[in-house]
Amino acid sequence: MYIESLSLENFRNYSKEVFGFKNGINILTGLNAQGKTNAAEAIFFLCTGYSPRANRDKFVIKNGSETAKISGKAKSLYGDISVGIEFNRSDKKIIYVNGAKVTKIGELLGNIHSVFFNPSELKLVQESPEDRRRFLNISLCQMSKSYFYALGRYNNILSQRNNMLKDPEKYIIRETLPVWDRQLSAEAAKIISARNDFIAQIAPVAEIKHAYLSDSAEKLVLKSECNYSGSIEEIASALYADLQSGLERDMRLGFTGIGPHRDDIKFILNGEDARIYGSQGQQRTVALSLKLAETEIFKSRTGEYPILILDDVLSELDKKRQRRLFSCVEEIQTVFTAVGIDRSVIKNKDYLRINIENGSIKGKNDPQSIKGLKDTEEVKKSEKTDKTDKTDKSDKSDKSESPTEPIEKQKF
Ligand SMILES: Nc1ncnc2c1ncn2[C@@H]1O[C@H](COP(=O)(O)OP(=O)(O)OP(=O)(O)O)[C@@H](O)[C@H]1O
Ligand SMILES: [Mg+2]
Repeated sequence: MYIESLSLENFRNYSKEVFGFKNGINILTGLNAQGKTNAAEAIFFLCTGYSPRANRDKFVIKNGSETAKISGKAKSLYGDISVGIEFNRSDKKIIYVNGAKVTKIGELLGNIHSVFFNPSELKLVQESPEDRRRFLNISLCQMSKSYFYALGRYNNILSQRNNMLKDPEKYIIRETLPVWDRQLSAEAAKIISARNDFIAQIAPVAEIKHAYLSDSAEKLVLKSECNYSGSIEEIASALYADLQSGLERDMRLGFTGIGPHRDDIKFILNGEDARIYGSQGQQRTVALSLKLAETEIFKSRTGEYPILILDDVLSELDKKRQRRLFSCVEEIQTVFTAVGIDRSVIKNKDYLRINIENGSIKGKNDPQSIKGLKDTEEVKKSEKTDKTDKTDKSDKSDKSESPTEPIEKQKF
């Protein structure tokens, strides 16, 4: 699948801008602090309803404005998709998919798939298990609605269980918790089983990607740090039994000590824990290999590649790794951001370069400024896309009713 156009209104440092993208390599270039990452962030937001960098939606609204809008159109094997998201300062966002208002993030997820990488993804390797669980959740929520809903239910029951554990009347806890724990284990088992399948599928692919990027110098092994395996029913009954036997401990702690909210993944590089022993470059390559592998899992599960957004990744890789990365993404629509591009690395490749200056496209996707776009048909197409974006009346996504209902908060 690929994104054809993206329109931003009062989003970060953009007042009003429309991007036309190529189904292939797109490179957003410009000096520091001009809006490259902001545009990359907007694409991911459009796909998931979630910002990879802001923990409050209101931070994406342009300073001094009350509302912001992102909208865009994508093409998939299964048809065209248009999405519009409107934000206001009370953190309520309204989402439209193909012109219809949706009330749950679950109805947005899975329409346009994307994988996002930026330098802070290093925390995937370096930092807490929570970052690794977020990676699993964002990926699996895009691939499976049932995962998304199981996760929402699990988080709700878990927070109620944790509240109950703090109840001073301990006999009430002992009487009521077993009932809650049946439901908790059932939802947890769906999550654990989906993660186990995902890790089993992604591990060998990440190993191949890592070997390729590192020119076979490094062997990456991914290991799930979860104690439960087998069928969903087997996982549910093992977890239920452990919740019962661990009840006294949970009451002492005041929270639930086991379950998918405690899972982790370990990255072993040439036999050593990459988190402890890996160099910065090695850790970066692990995170990138994982994201590249994720695109392959999307392809095998949905029939098509997601949109790959690689923010500021080139400056961190040597030329050899950069060339290898460009070879890896040949069949995937990829949006790179970079201060500049080394032409020797991208020689003989078709790409669309979009220059950004102070929250605007310099040259407005004008073919004259699209250096490297060799195929004149592509130039015409991108001109057309640009015009269509500005005149198309069929996309109701950002024009219909005024916002009324907030989208539920989803914890990834
Ligand atoms: N809500 C907002 N309102 C207005 N401006 C904002 C908002 N959020 C961020 N900005 C501004 O957007 C500018 C561009 O940010 P962005 O991260 O996209 O830069 P960049 O082009 O990726 O730069 P670099 O090359 O340094 O990564 C920053 O100067 C920042 O202050
Ligand atoms: Mg940036």
